[in-house]
Amino acid sequence: MFIVFIYNIKLAALDEQKVGTSFVYWISLIRKVPSTPQLGTPARPIRFRTGLHNTLFDVLKDRGYKFTDSELDWDLHWADVGWVKETLDHLHLEEYQRINHFRNHYELTRKDLLVKNLKRMKKILEKEEKYDDAKRYNFSPTSYVLPQEYGLFTEEYKRTGGVYIMKPIGKSQGKGIFLFNKLSQISEWKKEFRYRSTDQQAPETYIAQKYVENPYLVGGKKFDLRIYVLVTSYNPLTVYLYRTGFARFSQFRFSMDLKGIDNNFVHLTNVAIQKTTQEYHDNVVKSGIGCKWDLRRLKLFMCSKHGVEAVDTCFTGIQELCLRSLLAVQRVIIQDKHCFEMYGYDILIDDELKPWLLEVNASPSLTADTPEDYQMKHALLDDVFTIIDMEKRLTGTEDHIGGWDIICRGKVDFQNMKPSLLGAFNEREKNLAQLRKKRKASSVTTSAANSNQTKAK
Ligand SMILES: Nc1ncnc2c1ncn2[C@@H]1O[C@H](COP(=O)(O)OP(=O)(O)O)[C@@H](O)[C@H]1O
Ligand SMILES: [Mg+2]
Repeated sequence: MFIVFIYNIKLAALDEQKVGTSFVYWISLIRKVPSTPQLGTPARPIRFRTGLHNTLFDVLKDRGYKFTDSELDWDLHWADVGWVKETLDHLHLEEYQRINHFRNHYELTRKDLLVKNLKRMKKILEKEEKYDDAKRYNFSPTSYVLPQEYGLFTEEYKRTGGVYIMKPIGKSQGKGIFLFNKLSQISEWKKEFRYRSTDQQAPETYIAQKYVENPYLVGGKKFDLRIYVLVTSYNPLTVYLYRTGFARFSQFRFSMDLKGIDNNFVHLTNVAIQKTTQEYHDNVVKSGIGCKWDLRRLKLFMCSKHGVEAVDTCFTGIQELCLRSLLAVQRVIIQDKHCFEMYGYDILIDDELKPWLLEVNASPSLTADTPEDYQMKHALLDDVFTIIDMEKRLTGTEDHIGGWDIICRGKVDFQNMKPSLLGAFNEREKNLAQLRKKRKASSVTTSAANSNQTKAK
């Protein structure tokens, strides 16, 4: 026990980032280190910790993992971002422990920091005279961080006008969002900001973002996409894209009539907003699908209207913007081999089939509104854990795992990118069966080789 303690202190001392004096930190050094039996076997089941009691909990239980409420003795912690902020820096993690967020994930997932990082990346590329690459960063609608860039914003607004959308950086699910097309319409917000500043309270930061006025419509209704991206390492950058995602529809016909600019039910496609309408409930009862369309269904619909090539270009564009956003933060995010992260990308397609990045969520919703939704999220998460591979069953060379396809292994060659598999047929069961078969075959070969070696001795 004493030796383990000394060994852990040594390890921690090597790791400058984690050296701290907090109680949790020192306690984390002296915990028991379960080692020998292979993780994920009956002798050593994987112990998980989480505060969630939704699909995620079911998936982990179904995989045979054991729930623990221990602060420190867990193998896998599906933590909320608050815990990461407050506790992760003060913990010494063991080799085998895995956690579902990178420490400073907010560089990608906070609206203002995402904008800042995308702008910075564009500038770097322009400085390096990579103008074509820099132009490919035009997937984020023009945005200003307020109040910091208020002067710059008003100057630009007086020149160009148009409709903007105000989004508080610290909220989600459409909360606090409003549209405006006159500077006077943000005077309420300005007043509150002045009042708060004198009160010495930090004012709430917003981004004012150019509103995409020409969204792609289906049956006259606006939607945005939820796409899942999994990063298992920032260095080398290792990224997977899930084939299945969904479109979230508004229940109301879209219109840019300025009289209805304050109608969030028309303009915001968040399920949390749509759910509060009678129309949503009527649709759930009638069709059982709520306000969502499976990505594949949308892709087929779009192919029938615009042809496969145009839709492939659009969907490959989505894959490209996911990768480019990650490249923009690759150098700022603190790489940590214990961390992985599954992001929920919010993407809007316009009527010219151009994809726009609206935001990246660090904690995409894992609760299900319909049985179909439950099945999809269960499969999605189950495949995440197959990739995280705490049981050590993969070889590390697999390109397709369940419904996930690897889209970056260290480097991306944008010039020679194959059409994206986003929205493709998700044959995860078949794929998983193939992986199991391969593993069986290779373990038979290994044990045959071992017995030959023993005989030779
Ligand atoms: N620039 C934009 N143009 C058009 N619609 C937008 C824009 N930004 C956001 N929206 C709409 O508002 C919704 C909420 O915005 P989002 O940035 O995802 O914030 P939240 O964190 O509240 O979900 C989106 O799902 C989309 O329907
Ligand atoms: Mg959103």
